Amino acid sequence: MSAPTKRLYIKTYGCQMNVYDSERMADVLAPLGYGMTDRPEDADLVVLNTCHIREKATEKVYSELGYIKQMKQARAEAGGQMTIAVAGCVAQAEGEQIMIRQPAVDLVVGPQAYHQLPELIARTHRKRGERLAADFAADEKFDALPVERNPTGVTAFLTVQEGCDKFCTFCVVPYTRGGEWSRPVETVLAEARDLAAKGVREVTLLGQNVNAYAGEGGLAGLARQLAKIEGLDRIRYTTSHPADMGDDLIAAHAELPQLMPYLHLPVQAGSDKILKAMNRAHTAESYLRLVEKIRAARPDIAMAGDFIVGFPGERDADFEATLQLVREVGYAGAFSFKYSRRPGTPASALPGQVADEVKEERLARLNALLDEQQRAFNVSQAGRVLPVLFERPGRHPGQLSGRSPYLQAVHVEGPDHLIGQIVPVRIESGQKMSLAGVLEMETA
Ligand code: SAH
Ligand code: SF4
Ligand code: F3S
Repeated sequence: MSAPTKRLYIKTYGCQMNVYDSERMADVLAPLGYGMTDRPEDADLVVLNTCHIREKATEKVYSELGYIKQMKQARAEAGGQMTIAVAGCVAQAEGEQIMIRQPAVDLVVGPQAYHQLPELIARTHRKRGERLAADFAADEKFDALPVERNPTGVTAFLTVQEGCDKFCTFCVVPYTRGGEWSRPVETVLAEARDLAAKGVREVTLLGQNVNAYAGEGGLAGLARQLAKIEGLDRIRYTTSHPADMGDDLIAAHAELPQLMPYLHLPVQAGSDKILKAMNRAHTAESYLRLVEKIRAARPDIAMAGDFIVGFPGERDADFEATLQLVREVGYAGAFSFKYSRRPGTPASALPGQVADEVKEERLARLNALLDEQQRAFNVSQAGRVLPVLFERPGRHPGQLSGRSPYLQAVHVEGPDHLIGQIVPVRIESGQKMSLAGVLEMETA
């Protein structure tokens, strides 16, 4: 490829699907001469790939736009030009409102329209009119994006499913990402083969409800196909919904060594009353039974989850039920959030909104328990020998950083040429966020 002539800065907020989309935006813009920069003040094109999930996430975008606007002005004073694009879920949810609130924004592009970016940018350059592309058509998006990827490491994200039909009453995703839609098996396999040929050893399949993947054979079938690709030694997927955790997928965990023993299966709450009000399809009991079934298939599986505290109507006893469920499951990792009232979602209109101090207090208690579980899980690995995929040099010279099958960060002393290899490591200690170990066999 010829040397880039223009500089592109992308800032990514929110979930891994946005991380994947940001990479794909860079891919479609590369042929137009855009090369990446990590300095927004130098960029010809600034893209903010935004998240709408909680109020804070949305507000961050507007404060960032305030800074970028100043850079744009400085650039204009120096006789140059900067184009500002807002992409992602805020773009989808708020559309042209964004340009009313922050007129420095040149274009707004929703998650299903990234293949139109080159055209949108060209149009913006010609005439700063008609700037919105936020209609749903996930299939067009993927058909129109090039299959070719430019992976930068030995692990990669691969979106296989988009959107959500679950309509949990607190959540904006069904509105920002549209209905559930799955990419065909063949295009996923083609992308995975391309990644493997470029040195990728691990793929993480992404979807808002990735286990609802509806391509032929479902997610289990897809995993079986991917497991056949030479060089692709690790397969992960996220995020899963309990309602879509079918027997076939559970069986695949027992059957496929490539399928890593780590499962992100959000439960959100432990009180059946709250789960019902959230429109989650499970009860605490059915979730616990499901976890049991998964552990019967893959006893060492590390469980992770998401939790919301302070959903409308949540009383002390409801919150206690969440703590109880956490104690019963034993999580290796988790994300917990204070309920955030999102405009247009059913829960935002419910009575019994919980005071922020109460949310704060519950979140602190829940996090204390989850942190303790995570630390205990990591500490329990000491003495084991785990296969570690080395991804990058560590923070200190001579150090390597990689991941265990359970997604824990692992740090060892070792030579750089082990990057991209899966190597046995004797774990010596576990901390809250990572493991430390030594190479089991000195490799030349
Ligand atoms: N599809 C995934 C989650 C996507 S959103 C699933 O169903 O599990 C990621 C997480 O953000 C959710 O699991 C939930 O815990 C949290 N979340 C979503 N909406 C929220 C809101 N309004 N307030 C607080 N947390 C929220
Ligand atoms: Fe949101 Fe629920 Fe869909 Fe997850 S399943 S994306 S929480 S609506
Ligand atoms: Fe946020 Fe959209 Fe992902 S709202 S969490 S970026 S799907």
